[in-house]
Amino acid sequence: MKKALIVANWKSYVESPKVGLALLKATDQALPRGLKSKVVVCPPTILFSHVASSYKGSRIAFGTQDVSQAPTGAHTGETPATLARAAGATYTIIGHAERRAAGEGSDVVAEKVRIALDTKLVPIVCVGERERDHGAHYLSIIESMLVDSLAKIEPSALKKLVIAYEPVWAIGAPTAPDARVVREAVVYIKKILAQRFDKELGLKATVLYGGAVDAENARTLLVEGQASGFLVGRASVDPKNFGGIIRACES
Ligand code: PGA
Repeated sequence: MKKALIVANWKSYVESPKVGLALLKATDQALPRGLKSKVVVCPPTILFSHVASSYKGSRIAFGTQDVSQAPTGAHTGETPATLARAAGATYTIIGHAERRAAGEGSDVVAEKVRIALDTKLVPIVCVGERERDHGAHYLSIIESMLVDSLAKIEPSALKKLVIAYEPVWAIGAPTAPDARVVREAVVYIKKILAQRFDKELGLKATVLYGGAVDAENARTLLVEGQASGFLVGRASVDPKNFGGIIRACES
């Protein structure tokens, strides 16, 4: 099986720098020996440097949960991509549903994706419908989110970015959807990327699934859902559960 990519989105679950460091240590210890998967931890911005600079290992890469459109300069409260990169980030989540709910549109996401690529950060571009409907209108919502969020890239950049399919209705839900539901969306996303950007790169794109992933459902969602890996929220701040997800992707 292709090496999985598993991204821990710590959101704002961590209450202090001390807790963040302890969580990183426990996460590192929970990784299996001979780790094959690529593991990325995305701490809250204010803790990013503290956590990333404390890490002496080599098995975890770091990402931010967002980047700004603004470059370095007179922009109060922003997270410039160049600074994120200089502080040790190699990935960044962009357009997470919780940012989109706060008003971020696909036009802003597209600009951030472009900036991240220019800065040599791997963008993890989140797309997903708010709800399902019987007329399959959700598929056209996924399509437009995808096409609009990638409006500023060259088709060849598909190999330098990651798509995360995260249906809003599954984020924070008690259970994940059926693997069949995930597979349909993953296959659909690759088809759109192939049609609208680059045939070969689209079909080979890295498409993660996110929303209620845990150690119990990870194996099925990966294999039957045909995901390339996961974007994990709650379970990523529980090292035992997170370690279980990674082991499930390696068995
Ligand atoms: P969850 O969140 O794993 O807590 O459902 C996923 C996400 O928002 O990325």
